[in-house]
Amino acid sequence: MDVVERVLVSKEQLDKQVEELGARISKDYQGQELVIIGVLKGGFIFLADLARKITIPVDLDFMSVSSYGNSSKSSGVVKIIKDVDTNITGKHVLIVEDIIDTGLTLNHLVELLKTRGPLSVKVCAALDKPSRRKVDLKVDYKGIEIPDEFVIGYGLDYAGKYRNIAEVCVLKREVYTKK
Ligand code: XMP
Ligand code: MG
Repeated sequence: MDVVERVLVSKEQLDKQVEELGARISKDYQGQELVIIGVLKGGFIFLADLARKITIPVDLDFMSVSSYGNSSKSSGVVKIIKDVDTNITGKHVLIVEDIIDTGLTLNHLVELLKTRGPLSVKVCAALDKPSRRKVDLKVDYKGIEIPDEFVIGYGLDYAGKYRNIAEVCVLKREVYTKK
């Protein structure tokens, strides 16, 4: 697409990463009751791929969140647009996100879900921008590290679009700087 500066993570790299994560998750949670919570909207493609590489029975549910405030930067205070329907008390929980940037969103979600009496709460993200981290968040299942560039594709959007690009791509700077 003409808004793409360059491909940062190829489909092959993503497939390989997803396969590794799926295998690790399947092994680690073998014989346990696991609820996987996908964070909408960005996490939907990664979760669809990951879920099919997990070989143990799991419950799947979704949350939809948005940052408070009018800034495009994460404030860390997240508004729950859609909560899970599943009761997570006494179960293991794995939150699946598209990307970890400052870490504020996931940090908030982890703390919120912990108040509901789960056995454990862990996190899994397709992409990680470690240079931007603001909180000391433990990422249990970490995907691919990327530099501090605004990316689209593989579930990630710019102004609601481009989630359907198969690879992770750097957005042309002129797209978001033009008035
Ligand atoms: P924090 O900063 O709380 O935010 O870790 C994570 C959320 O920020 C969004 N985000 C991006 N979205 N391209 C996007 O389309 C990016 O490069 C990007 N970096 C952060 C994303 O919604 C993620 O869940
Ligand atoms: Mg997101």
